[in-house]
Amino acid sequence: MKPIKVGLLGIGTVGSGTFNVLKRNQEEITRRAGRSIEIAMVADLNVERARELTHGEVEVVSDANLVVSHPDIDIVIELIGGYGIARELVLKAIANGKHVVTANKALLATHGNEIFKAAQEKGVMVAFEAAVAGGIPIIKALREGLTANRIQWIAGIINGTTNFILSEMRDKGLDFSTVLKQAQELGYAEADPTFDIEGVDAAHKATIMASIAYGIPMQFDKAYVEGITRLEASDIRYAEELGYRIKLLGITKRTPEGIELRVHPTLIPEKRLIANVEGAMNAVLVQGDAVGATLYYGKGAGSEPTASAVIADLVDITRLATADPEHRVPHLAFQPGSISNLPILPM
Ligand code: NDP
Ligand code: HSE
Repeated sequence: MKPIKVGLLGIGTVGSGTFNVLKRNQEEITRRAGRSIEIAMVADLNVERARELTHGEVEVVSDANLVVSHPDIDIVIELIGGYGIARELVLKAIANGKHVVTANKALLATHGNEIFKAAQEKGVMVAFEAAVAGGIPIIKALREGLTANRIQWIAGIINGTTNFILSEMRDKGLDFSTVLKQAQELGYAEADPTFDIEGVDAAHKATIMASIAYGIPMQFDKAYVEGITRLEASDIRYAEELGYRIKLLGITKRTPEGIELRVHPTLIPEKRLIANVEGAMNAVLVQGDAVGATLYYGKGAGSEPTASAVIADLVDITRLATADPEHRVPHLAFQPGSISNLPILPM
C-alpha cells in the first residue's frame, strides 16, 4: 500500500520532535498504523533551518498555503501556533479535503466550533491529542476510555511552564523571571508566555476538556482565568509552612445549575498526589460516575512528549482513512454542543 502523505506546518519545538520520533520509530509506527506514514512536505518561515532539521530529505517551502493545497497531501499537521494564520490554514486544509492534526489549544478553544463544523461538512477528521497535557493521552481517555461515564469533574495541572516555575521557585528559591526564561529555553512556554503565566493556556485546555466531557460548545470566553503572576515567593513559603503546595489548577465541574470552568492558583495539602507533581509534569484527575476517580500523569510539555501525542493522532487517522469507508468512524473529533446545553456558570 502506498504511504499516507503528511504535510507539516511549522518545524519548531514540537514539529522537529514529530519529525525525529516518526523517523526513529518508523518501523513500529508503520506496523501499528498498518501503513507507512511519510512527511512529504514541510512549511516553515525559516527554510534553511527546516532543511537542516529534515537533513534535506523532505521538500521544504516557506509558504504553508502550498502544503494545504497540494494534491498529494492526505494529512496536514498544524504546529505553527496562534489563531490568525493557523486558523486560515486549518480551514483551507479542511476545505481541500485534508485530515488535520493540531497541537494548537488556543486555536481550538477559540475557533474549535467553526473548525469541527467545517470538518464534519467536508467529511474529514481533526485530531488534537497534543493540545491538552502534552504527552498524556487525556483526550483519548475522555473520548474513548471513559465514554460510558457521566463525567462529574476534571481537575488538573495542565500547564507545564507554570508548574515548572512554581516548583523551581519553591525548591531552589529562584525568582520568577529566571525560571520563566529557563522554561522558554526548554521549549515548554508558548510563543507568548503571558498565555502560560496568566492562566490562559490552562483555560484553553480546560475549555477543550469541558467540551468533550459534557458535550458542550467551546466557550473559552466564559472561563474564569487567574494565573500565577500575582504570587510571590513568600506565598509559596507560607503555604509550605502550613503544609500546602500552591498549584495552578484547571477545573471544570458539572453542577445542577451548569458548568464551572475555571483556572486559578490552588492550595493543595502536601500529602495529596497532585501536590507532588513537579517541574513540567502534568496530572489530570477525572471523576466519572461509573469509574470513580482516575488519574493521568506525565510530561505536559516539550518536544518529544508532545510529538508522541501528535503521532498517536497520525496513526489513528491513518488507520481510519485506510479502513473500508463503510466501517469507518466518520470523525475522530466529538461534535461540540451535540450532547447537552448546560451553561457555563459565571464565577
Ligand atoms: P515553535 O515556535 O517552536 O514552532 C513554531 C514553528 O512554526 C516555528 O518554526 C515558526 O518559524 C513556524 N512558523 C511560524 N509562522 C509560520 C508560518 N506562517 N508558516 C510556516 N511556519 C511558520 O512552537 P512549538 O513547537 O512550541 O508549538 C507549536 C504548537 O504546539 C503551538 O500551537 C503550541 O501551543 C503547541 N504545543 C506546544 C507544546 C510545547 O511543549 N512546546 C506542547 C503542546 C502544544 P519561526 O521560528 O521562524 O517563527
Ligand atoms: N506552554 C504549554 C505548557 C505547552 O507549558 O504547558 C504544553 O501545552
